[in-house]
Amino acid sequence: MTAGRRASSSDVPSAEATTLAVEDFEAAARQRLPRMVFDYYAGGAGEETTLRENRRAYDRWVIRPRVLVDVSTVDLRTTVLGQDVPFPILLAPTAFQRLAHRLGEVATAQGAASVGALMVVSTISTASLEEIAGTGVRRWFQLYVLTDRDLTAELVKRAHAAGYGAIVLTVDTPVLGRRLRDERNRFSLPPGIGLANLAGAGLPTAEGSALFSFFVDRIDPSLDWEDVAWLRSLTPLPLVLKGIVTEEDARLAVEAGVDAIVVSNHGGRQLDGAPATLDVLPEVVAAADGRAEVLLDGGIRRGSDVFKALALGARAVLVGRPYLWGLAAGGPEGVRRVLEILRDDLALTMALAGRAGVPAIDRSAVAPAPRDPDRGEDT
Ligand code: FNR
Ligand code: LAC
Repeated sequence: MTAGRRASSSDVPSAEATTLAVEDFEAAARQRLPRMVFDYYAGGAGEETTLRENRRAYDRWVIRPRVLVDVSTVDLRTTVLGQDVPFPILLAPTAFQRLAHRLGEVATAQGAASVGALMVVSTISTASLEEIAGTGVRRWFQLYVLTDRDLTAELVKRAHAAGYGAIVLTVDTPVLGRRLRDERNRFSLPPGIGLANLAGAGLPTAEGSALFSFFVDRIDPSLDWEDVAWLRSLTPLPLVLKGIVTEEDARLAVEAGVDAIVVSNHGGRQLDGAPATLDVLPEVVAAADGRAEVLLDGGIRRGSDVFKALALGARAVLVGRPYLWGLAAGGPEGVRRVLEILRDDLALTMALAGRAGVPAIDRSAVAPAPRDPDRGEDT
């Protein structure tokens, strides 16, 4: 704005101008959402150390740009499990999306579908997996194994019948992490919002977090590698294990014949003190040794984060909170904008780094950042 000019309505920044980055959507969501909901989405377990480290890990790498490379077209396309995706950013499974928007997961699916992105749908979604499939979004189904194994098998069958392209078994949640924000807020679901895949059941009443009680009541903490074989025998769909952060488990996963691994600590919501995902990506990639695809989630907030994960061997990444902020701030359109921001930021990073296609983002594209004594890392 020119100095001295009178303010007019056209000086009010448009929504597009004020929401340029994922952080802007987070700020908008924080304003709109009830405290209990914002805290549930934003929070992590324990002291939230792992939650913070997920972000900080990206600062431990720098990008090594190459110059005089023709970047007049930058091609973001790739495949995951042999399935085409327009860019290597997927939607991670997140629960209870109707807390953010009236249409919940259906709105997210519409936003994702509008840019061709692949959505992983949570077992504990607040719209049914069939309703979500009705949007036509590319989709995988995230599975929590219930103590009721017949019901679990039924969920897998329903996902197959509804055109889901993979089963993503979450393996870092035998019990729920201790999330103090949720306990303090006595997290629960308001009337009218329930677990749509489980006959619309609500959460149990509880002194602290009702979600914690739900896991105690319904989720099977005895799950082990034999159950992975059981799951394999249940369905012809590709099987993905989400929540692996060690080379030992990566090797066992490959031996179990899984198709892909998601390096994940559940967005810092489970074991506080678990390593940042980017820090352990190289060991998991080495252990998988090309026998399973390796994806990563946790703390991805800009294109350079995606770029670094790809350079360190991830086939693609997933984002959780970013699109929840988009959903809360602007429904399907907000989800679409957040995905476009991440996609376009990745394309820009690739152009400036002299990598015109996803296969060109190899290990030589990054290097460890110089140690910064101001950060106290020398002690
Ligand atoms: C999750 N996550 C998750 N994972 C899963 O396997 N099943 C689920 O139902 C949920 N629910 C869920 C709810 C909310 C509010 C969040 C923030 C996360 C974990 C999710 O799939 C993913 O691992 C992280 O969100 C990735 O980290 P960022 O992108 O949120 O930093
Ligand atoms: C969460 C569970 C439901 O992170 O996955 O809230």
